[in-house]
Amino acid sequence: MKFFIDTANLDQIRQAQELGILDGVTTNPSLMAKEGISGDAAVKGHYVAICEIVDGDVSAEVISTDYEGMIAEGKILADLHPNIVVKVPAIVDGIKAIRWFTDHGIRTNCTLIFSAGQALLAAKAGASYVSPFVGRLDDISSDGLHLIEKIRAIYDNYDFGTEILAASVRHTMHIIECAEIGADIMTGPLSAIVGLMKHPLTDSGLKQFLADHAKANN
Ligand code: G3P
Repeated sequence: MKFFIDTANLDQIRQAQELGILDGVTTNPSLMAKEGISGDAAVKGHYVAICEIVDGDVSAEVISTDYEGMIAEGKILADLHPNIVVKVPAIVDGIKAIRWFTDHGIRTNCTLIFSAGQALLAAKAGASYVSPFVGRLDDISSDGLHLIEKIRAIYDNYDFGTEILAASVRHTMHIIECAEIGADIMTGPLSAIVGLMKHPLTDSGLKQFLADHAKANN
């Protein structure tokens, strides 16, 4: 499973990159706003800065919601760097735009996926990635991981090349269960990624090893 980090924070992206396990980055307009990035030039510059840290795909989301607007915006985003993937919402105009981008060699990430039907149409339009939002489904007492299972089954039935990018991952168990189900990628916060390494028996075991070593070498 590939590991993406879901943030526009350059320090966190650097920290994840330094772990040596990072395969890419996802952003969205809320994450960009959280970092105080606003204005056309600043937004574009920020995407390029992210691409310079990570050798992997970086999702950059369009703001337009109409077909023509998404095409115009997506072309500009895709031109910023070869690793940019244009993130397009799972709406009817979005599906049309994904088809256009696919036919013109521009890679896409269909975002805000909350149903298997949306994921099916995005794959048929040639999306490179679909982003089902696991955590946000859990938030409304639905089952985010079950959606990942359904999409996995559908894509396997028909050999779709679209990769399942489990998004809105909130914690370590989401990551582990996505890996069990066979999500191609997960994107989540640095805390969830680093959290995978936490175990009290590792900490107490290491403490004991170091204490025994110190005793023997005094
Ligand atoms: O980038 C999309 C997605 O990962 C958002 O996550 O935590 O805001 O639901 P969250």
